[in-house]
Amino acid sequence: MLAVRIRRGEGPQGFQTFAVPRRANQTVLDVVTEIQRDQDPTLSYRFACRVGMCGSCGMTVNGRPRWTCRTRVAQVAEGESLTLEPLRNLPVVKDLTVDMEPFFTKWRDAHGYFEPGETPADDFATVLPDSAERQEVDAGIECINCGVCYAACDVVSWNPDYLGPAALNRAWTLVNDVRDRGQAERLAAVSTDAGCHACHSHMSCTEHCPKGLAPTFAIAGLKRETARAALRRFRRKA
Ligand code: SF4
Ligand code: SF4
Ligand code: FES
Repeated sequence: MLAVRIRRGEGPQGFQTFAVPRRANQTVLDVVTEIQRDQDPTLSYRFACRVGMCGSCGMTVNGRPRWTCRTRVAQVAEGESLTLEPLRNLPVVKDLTVDMEPFFTKWRDAHGYFEPGETPADDFATVLPDSAERQEVDAGIECINCGVCYAACDVVSWNPDYLGPAALNRAWTLVNDVRDRGQAERLAAVSTDAGCHACHSHMSCTEHCPKGLAPTFAIAGLKRETARAALRRFRRKA
């Protein structure tokens, strides 16, 4: 049997422990689902796809943020025990369910959306797959908004206004999108005190991203590009 401690309230007393049978190839999400179905239907958690596509099943597993649908118990169980908590840096709705609203608000604040301009082209623009810009975009485009990197980032914990690795990674893919017409506003949005320059480059986001993306390098790209934009503005004034 597996002893599963689940955070359901504040402080050291806020854990409830459940006993769950070990099964072959069991994932952490399987364990939570089994508890909810067989032992406590009031247990709250979130998932949708179960195959690493939707990004909704993130939780803290033995102190580390992870997708639970792609995390096997055998990989992470410490002896015969597992400790599950909600993702860090986000408000808890109930038990293991967090409110993702602040995370998505920051995508909007970082201009993490395509801006076609006032007169978008009638036809689709051709973007060559081997162009340098397209390759930069490729490196970050597979993000599925799971919030694991956001939960892993200490700067978000220290400064709740910090836009965070996922929103900044998204902004970087758009900075390299040659069809986009919102670059000046986007670079201004990511240059604020809560933007890319607040990143300490300590790589925690990159170490934890289950898709193998590297927000740290995307943020480094934004730091370079915002510095270039500032230099261009300075030269125009001089
Ligand atoms: S960058 Fe990775 S960890 Fe962060 S939200 Fe996207 S997929 Fe999840
Ligand atoms: S590299 Fe930057 S964004 Fe990533 S975890 Fe560290 S401070 Fe956060
Ligand atoms: S349930 Fe969709 S990524 Fe885990």
